[in-house]
Amino acid sequence: MSFSRNILITGGAGFIGSHVVRLFVNKYPDYHIINLDKLTYAGNLANLKDIEDKPNYTFVRADICDFDTMCALFAGHRIDGVIHLAAESHVDRSIKDPFTFARTNVMGTLSLLQAAKRAWNGDWEGKLFYHISTDEVYGALQFDDTLFTETTKYDPHSPYSASKASSDHFVRAYHDTYGMPTLVTNCSNNYGPYQFPEKLIPLFINNIRHGKPLPVYGKGENVRDWLYVVDHARAIDVIFHRGKVGDTYNIGGFNEWKNIDIIKVIISTVDRLLGNAPGTSDHLITYVTDRAGHDLRYAIDSRKLKAELGWGPSLQFEEGIEKTVKWYLDHQDWMDNITSGEYEKYYEEMYRNR
Ligand code: NAD
Ligand code: TYD
Repeated sequence: MSFSRNILITGGAGFIGSHVVRLFVNKYPDYHIINLDKLTYAGNLANLKDIEDKPNYTFVRADICDFDTMCALFAGHRIDGVIHLAAESHVDRSIKDPFTFARTNVMGTLSLLQAAKRAWNGDWEGKLFYHISTDEVYGALQFDDTLFTETTKYDPHSPYSASKASSDHFVRAYHDTYGMPTLVTNCSNNYGPYQFPEKLIPLFINNIRHGKPLPVYGKGENVRDWLYVVDHARAIDVIFHRGKVGDTYNIGGFNEWKNIDIIKVIISTVDRLLGNAPGTSDHLITYVTDRAGHDLRYAIDSRKLKAELGWGPSLQFEEGIEKTVKWYLDHQDWMDNITSGEYEKYYEEMYRNR
């Protein structure tokens, strides 16, 4: 079968990547979507069950740091577009193990860039390297009305955000130095189905269901700006096809929440959907020692994306959080498979036998 484009999506078995893969595979049957993922603890092929048999989808298990394999992949599949999401993504893990973050996020991104450069060999026509990044590279805002714009100075504080900032700089350096067609986007916190339950929203939904404590860092006053993951995937689609090469776009939904307030919304939504009386799970809130270097506030100004490419979020937060809580409650098997560790054993078995 011949395809009009061969697009490499890295990290497609993770949370956001799986939504991007699903959108591209379903929306563009004439594109060949190659999902490259190492399947770390955060990668889960169950996130893609509904599209895994589609004729325009291929899964490759590999590490982006493995340069020779990346070169072979670019040549073998004649890749002309890259959407790079593979990363170590959890701040708390980066505090305990910064080396893994530098390896994957910095060296892995560099390995992909260099493999793309070698394969494309100066013929940039129809090529694009699109790097997915985070608003955390901009550092922390105070409790005022300032927002991160595309020109806000980088000021990362955690090993995670420092590694993402470094990878962003490498992508821009490949554009400025070699002329590679690149794009970078910096998005706010995502929420929605298939998020690994170490992150605030799925962790708390699962803990409420099981009557377990909800560990609120510090006083719960930190502010995050939340975007429904499908809206992020929609933005990636728009920017991949119509974004100005070499440019940067911020992606966010103007939806700031203090942690403790969003936690109260999650508790009341879970209790209501489980048929519990209001207030049943309030006692689970447990204030714990704050995260080291905990950024106070993130908030994205995404007016450039709206003005230039017409993108805006499709869902109001109330609707998004209702859908999300319902999804996790309806997919307890997905959650149990992760919390029991079964999903990782399955891959180890599957790949050992190859
Ligand atoms: P995730 O942790 O859910 O998924 C990451 C995926 O990358 C996993 O499938 C994992 O197996 C894979 N991976 C990790 N190391 C790899 C390696 N060395 N080689 C190949 N694959 C590897 O992360 P996510 O939340 O889906 O985030 C995806 C991207 O979006 C990341 O680059 C992250 O920095 C960025 N981002 C995330 C958010 C958010 O709120 N989650 C917000 C903005 C930007
Ligand atoms: P998280 O989902 O880890 O995303 P990020 O750190 O990338 O913003 O955390 C969201 C917010 O919730 C952040 O301010 C830290 C806080 N948090 C808790 O209070 N308790 C928790 O158990 C977790 C995982 C996060």
